[in-house]
Amino acid sequence: MTHYFTDNWENVQNFQARPDDILIATYPKAGTTWVSCILDLLYFGQKSPERQTSIPIYDRVPFLEIKIPTVHSGTDLAENLPTSPRLIKTHFPVQFVPKSFWEQNCKIVYVARNAKDNVVSFFHFDRMNMVEPEPGDWSSYLNRFMEGKMVFGSWYDHVNGWWKKKQTHSKLHYMFYEDLIEDTGRELDKLCCFLGLSPSAEEKKRITSGVQFDNMKKNDMANYSTLPVMDFKISPFMRKGKVGDWKNHFTVAQNEQFDEDYKKKMKDSTLQFRTEI
Ligand code: A3P
Repeated sequence: MTHYFTDNWENVQNFQARPDDILIATYPKAGTTWVSCILDLLYFGQKSPERQTSIPIYDRVPFLEIKIPTVHSGTDLAENLPTSPRLIKTHFPVQFVPKSFWEQNCKIVYVARNAKDNVVSFFHFDRMNMVEPEPGDWSSYLNRFMEGKMVFGSWYDHVNGWWKKKQTHSKLHYMFYEDLIEDTGRELDKLCCFLGLSPSAEEKKRITSGVQFDNMKKNDMANYSTLPVMDFKISPFMRKGKVGDWKNHFTVAQNEQFDEDYKKKMKDSTLQFRTEI
């Protein structure tokens, strides 16, 4: 962790969730913003369409554990959300989620992305985001990822910890970035089923079109261009939005080493990821 995610620790841990809060949980760069936009459109796209064009996604869906000096903390933003339900984002591994979310039996949407694309996306994010540690060169970054020495810890522990939680918390919907890419409409249907929502066919079409990569990329309220800590000259937030971009980064040797290490780390897991579709 870095201090941006620990400075407000007590308030975060004591955060009072409400029964209708919806928590969006992810390892960083797994598709958080994508799913946040989908949920925001599902709940508020018709009731308050002006939200989509006037409020950046990071204010519509506060990042619970963030605390940047001189900017509102995630807990303040979440507490002052006027919406019902409140949509709240976290990158916490499952064991750090404030206990009130479990006590209130909140619905949780977890999104996971295959490790190879996830680490590539995280690398570029760390290059352009001034509140993230400097990534250094790609090769050492990849090694650190394998060792779990990342902000928010090990990817392997994160995806497995949440996967295990799904067995005991029935209100946890576990999604995959690759499935969303393959068929956004199908995944939207599954999500609606979990949330107990039944939007019209027309509304679903409006949502899937609104959250297409190209549309989100040019939407200033979704693409993070309004956040000064990010330098888009280095790399844009909405970078490629693809499955398989890892092939442009991993050398053959790195890929072999990664696969071998992956097998060991994931040997007890029933989780299956797709690194290409
Ligand atoms: P890339 O860096 O591989 O392009 P997060 O929101 O968790 O930070 O994840 C960001 C990643 O999700 C980035 O991946 C970004 O491009 C991708 N992403 C965001 N919106 C997307 C969309 N509508 N379709 C596909 N990918 C999307």
